[in-house]
Amino acid sequence: MKTINVGLIGFGTVGSGLAEVLLSQQERLLQRSGLTVRLARVADIMISELPARFADTELTNDAEGMINDPDIDIIVELIGGIQPAKTFVMDAIAAGKHVVTANKALLSQEGKEIFAAAAAKGVEVGFEASVGGGIPVIKSLKEGLVANKILSIMGIMNGTANYILTRMTDEGIAFADVLKDAQELGFAEADPTYDIEGIDTAHKLAILMTMAYGMNITHDEIATEGISQIEPMDIEFAREFGCRIKLLAISRNHDDNVEARVHPTMVPESHLLSSINGAYNAIHFTGDTVGNVLLYGPGAGKLPTGSAVAADVVDIARDIAAGSVGRVPSLSYLPGEIRDIAITPMEKLSCPWYFRISAKDEPGVLAAIAGILSRHGISIESVIQKGRQQSGPVSIVISTHTAQESSVLAALTEIDALEVVSLPTVKIRMLDETASFED
Ligand code: HSE
Repeated sequence: MKTINVGLIGFGTVGSGLAEVLLSQQERLLQRSGLTVRLARVADIMISELPARFADTELTNDAEGMINDPDIDIIVELIGGIQPAKTFVMDAIAAGKHVVTANKALLSQEGKEIFAAAAAKGVEVGFEASVGGGIPVIKSLKEGLVANKILSIMGIMNGTANYILTRMTDEGIAFADVLKDAQELGFAEADPTYDIEGIDTAHKLAILMTMAYGMNITHDEIATEGISQIEPMDIEFAREFGCRIKLLAISRNHDDNVEARVHPTMVPESHLLSSINGAYNAIHFTGDTVGNVLLYGPGAGKLPTGSAVAADVVDIARDIAAGSVGRVPSLSYLPGEIRDIAITPMEKLSCPWYFRISAKDEPGVLAAIAGILSRHGISIESVIQKGRQQSGPVSIVISTHTAQESSVLAALTEIDALEVVSLPTVKIRMLDETASFED
């Protein structure tokens, strides 16, 4: 019976989750792989001892020593961030070690260099836990959907943002209070800006796009807007339009160019993604042969993410034992097949829109706004104005038919310049019917 020795860097939430999973599932993994997958060593400079149940695991503060130890077969990086994580990953690859990481920031920024180094060295890089926490999304894309041209990717990929929006929607709680709860529950990133400003979602979308389309893309090429500007009244107005606000990652494949965007979106209540609540994630793919596939599950958390990391470890362990390392390319496409594809400029995209305009409540205001929209070819679907203010502004809420982003930006520049308009207009894209599950 062969033993595969794992060296783990970082015993935080996910690292300790991996340790728990490998311990509690050891017998099952033996039954399923014929291998003993052993957490041989943990490198962490923040702790002085491991819990007693990990008596078989050594603790060190020397990550480089572990990386270069010939007895270690797989290095698992779970410290997050770019440095020193990148150095550890690159050093592990250089030492001929297989690598598993959950580090979406690292892969979406430095993935090209990391995967090139791994291919040159003939080692595997597993990153199931980088997207969708415990959901087997990477493996689905790489293996289950291998016989598909992926036509679109759409999903809720950040549990913190979804948790905040869900509680704001269900309980009317203020944004800042819910964020505090999310941090206490342990699924927010160390810097919550990444969660609430859509950056973490863009990291994940970049990884999925690389694998889905076989393209080079870094997260900073993705147009990204977060949820920090969403106010409870937007959530209320969304309800009146029969929608919920969700932070969506959206990508569509137009062959010679691809859409790539992350933004709050009004999702009709009839759409499956509108009912993904709390810290859950859901990722929807359209494949040309399979049709629509929706993967749903815990997008974060100690044991769910530990489960995903363990799956990568076992995949690599099986390949080592079978002498089939590299059987499945890490990014699904062979390294030489990954190419540059243009990203569709946002200005060219079209969708229906929600605008919340803060304007004085006096005769002619709505006519002036409607006139500007009309001149830019934007057709109004409905208008809501509630209440009456003698002095302060009122909210004039407009939903539109499908309109191109460039026209919307030009129209809103004019609207916001009106003397009667007191604050920048809030604009939220509405999910268009071409993105529906009834395609
Ligand atoms: N901060 C992330 C989230 C954790 O809230 O989804 C998993 O990537």
